Amino acid sequence: MGDWETFVAQDWVESDVALAPWTTYKVGGPARWLATPKGLGDLEVIGRAAVERAVPVVVLGRGSNVVISDAGFDGIVVRLGDSFGSMRWEGGEVVAGAAVSLPRLARTAVATGRGGLEFFVGIPGSVGGAVHQNAGCHGRETKDVLVSASVWDLRRGELTSRSVADLGLGYRRSDLRDHEVVVEARFVTTPGDPEDGERLLREITRWRREHQPGGTLNAGSVFKNPPGDSAGRIIDALGLKGLRRGRVYVSERHANFFVAEPGASAADIKGLVDDVIRRVAEATGIVLEPEIRFVGGFDEEER
Ligand code: EPU
Repeated sequence: MGDWETFVAQDWVESDVALAPWTTYKVGGPARWLATPKGLGDLEVIGRAAVERAVPVVVLGRGSNVVISDAGFDGIVVRLGDSFGSMRWEGGEVVAGAAVSLPRLARTAVATGRGGLEFFVGIPGSVGGAVHQNAGCHGRETKDVLVSASVWDLRRGELTSRSVADLGLGYRRSDLRDHEVVVEARFVTTPGDPEDGERLLREITRWRREHQPGGTLNAGSVFKNPPGDSAGRIIDALGLKGLRRGRVYVSERHANFFVAEPGASAADIKGLVDDVIRRVAEATGIVLEPEIRFVGGFDEEER
C-alpha cells in the first residue's frame, strides 16, 4: 500500500468535514481531509502522504485565530487529539501538549501554586498556536515563559527539540512553517501563592470582559498593532466602529475585533478586513497587517 492509501485508510482520517464548528468564527467550508492524529506515528503517516501527493497541510489549534474560506481547504487539516492534551510538571517547569488550551494551562499552574502563566487565561488558543504565533496579552508574550518546544517536521518525519532562542519568536510571529507541528512545549514558572494567582486570573478575565466583545463570534485582534500604536485605536479614531460587510461588523466595544453574526460568510470577514485596510491606508498611510490567518482560497480585492 502506498503512503496515500495508508493515510486514507486510517480510522482517524475523515473526508469532507465541516470546519466551521472547530473555529471561533463558525464560518467556512469543509476540509477535504481532516486528520486527528493520536501520536507521533500518526503524524508520520500524514507527512508521508502529504509529501507523496504534494497535498497542502494546515494545523488547526483551537481555531481562535483563523478564518476558513467558504470553499473550505483542499488539503489535509490536522487537529491534534486528546493524546496531545496532557501536562506534566518537572520541578518548576511544566510540559504541556500542543492541544492544551491556554486558559487551562493558566488555571492549572495557579492551582499548583506556580505563577507566571496567568496571562494565558486571556487567550482562548492552544499551546501549539501560542508557540507558532508567540501569543500574548497583558504585556506578556509566550516567549517570556517558553523554554523549548518539541516540533515534528512533517516533511522530514523527525522530532526536534527547539530552544526558545531557536524559534524566531517576535511580536505575534515565529520562524515555524506550516509543516512544522508543535507537539509539546516546556514553560518555566515561578513559585506563586494560589490566592494571588486566582486574583490575577480574575483581574485579567474582568479586564477582557470590559474591553473586548466576549460572548460573540470573533477571533480576537484582527490586525497586528503597527509599531508604537494600536490598530484598535486607529480604526476607532477614523470612526469605523459599526462598519459592516454582510453579516460582519467592526465591534463597538473594541475596533480591532470584528464580530460575525450567525449566517456570516468568510467572504464577509475578508471583505471587511480589506475595506478597513484600505480606509486606514488612505487616511493615515499605515498598512495594517492581519493577525488572523486566512486558510483556503480567498479572492483578492483591489486595494
Ligand atoms: N482603543 C481605542 N478604541 C478601541 C480599542 C482600543 O481607542 O476601539 C485604545 C485603548 O483605549 C488603548 C489602546 O487602544 O489605549 C490599546 O488597546 P488595548 O489595551 O485594548 O490593547 P490592543 O493593543 O488593542 C493588545 C493585543 C490583545 C490583548 C490586549 C491586552 C494585539 C494585536 N492585541 O490589544 O491581543 O488581549 O493587548 O493585552 O497585540 C489578540 O492578539 O488576539 C489579542 C486579543
